[in-house]
Amino acid sequence: MAIRNILRDEDPSLKKKSRAVTEFDKRLHQLLDDMRETLIEANGLGLAAPQVGVLRRAALIVDLNIETDLLDEQIIELVNPEITASSGTQSGSEGCLSVPGIYGIVTRPDLVKVKAQDRHGKPIEIWCKDITARAACHEIDHLNGVLFTTHVERFLTEEELALLNNEDDEEDIAE
Ligand code: NI
Repeated sequence: MAIRNILRDEDPSLKKKSRAVTEFDKRLHQLLDDMRETLIEANGLGLAAPQVGVLRRAALIVDLNIETDLLDEQIIELVNPEITASSGTQSGSEGCLSVPGIYGIVTRPDLVKVKAQDRHGKPIEIWCKDITARAACHEIDHLNGVLFTTHVERFLTEEELALLNNEDDEEDIAE
């Protein structure tokens, strides 16, 4: 495994639509393993392949509802993910590993059903709620070349950011 470089907002790859994954081979597994290591190192809540420069529909989300102390065990791999149902709304602060230091209020569904494939191509379907639903929407947006900043209703001020950092000592809310 290797830590990959996370592209920043000015990088044109982040604005491009990713193509479907069609080969569930060693190369995909290497990509997912590297993304996993990169996400853990960055202490984020999600990471999409285009953020490491690979324009393929693969993403990781962290499900904080999975009870374990190990971030590694909370990571869900989503290949070719699609939201097939959603309900409710939540409004809260959101950030992105590709847009460091910027947070804003974004409204997302409260609950989403995600259809995807695992790393072997096997179909999976999961329900994501709360912050995990937010992460799923955020990562799928990345696969469509959309950054969270396009959805921001209001950017957080420096004072609000300082408060947020105090509250979230252990968790970064960036995706
Ligand atoms: Ni992001």
